[in-house]
Amino acid sequence: MAEKYADLVQKAAEAKMSAYAPYSNFRVGAALLTEEGRVFTGCNIENASFGLSNCAERTAVYKAVSEGFRKFKAIAVSTDTEEITSPCGACRQVLMEFDTDMDVIMANVHGQYQVYKAKELLPLAFTPKKLEEERRI
Ligand code: THU
Repeated sequence: MAEKYADLVQKAAEAKMSAYAPYSNFRVGAALLTEEGRVFTGCNIENASFGLSNCAERTAVYKAVSEGFRKFKAIAVSTDTEEITSPCGACRQVLMEFDTDMDVIMANVHGQYQVYKAKELLPLAFTPKKLEEERRI
């Protein structure tokens, strides 16, 4: 496990350099690995109208989906903090839309990381499957 995601974490750290975070000064980078082996990166993009800010994870997912990729193996998230940062609730929901089994790798400023499954981060999630079940009634 130790080295498995080192490359993806490195790509997330590189993506962090593009963060547009003038209000929080909290830079985040993400690197999303598709089933096909492609990597889509993302950073957080803030706005003077704060509520419009977009997290790094969602930037990466939306880039991938808009390019036709919907099956994901893993996403690495990198911040500048000593402590590992876990994705916000909105991003967890977006990850669960596409793959409940994907690995979520959370890395600190030194590149040390922890790995969880998306479904571990959002128990009892509302997913597309649930919506299909409801439609059948
Ligand atoms: N942020 C992310 O990009 N991802 C997370 O998982 C947590 C928070 C961003 C949003 C905002 O630009 C800044 O970090 C501070 O909340």
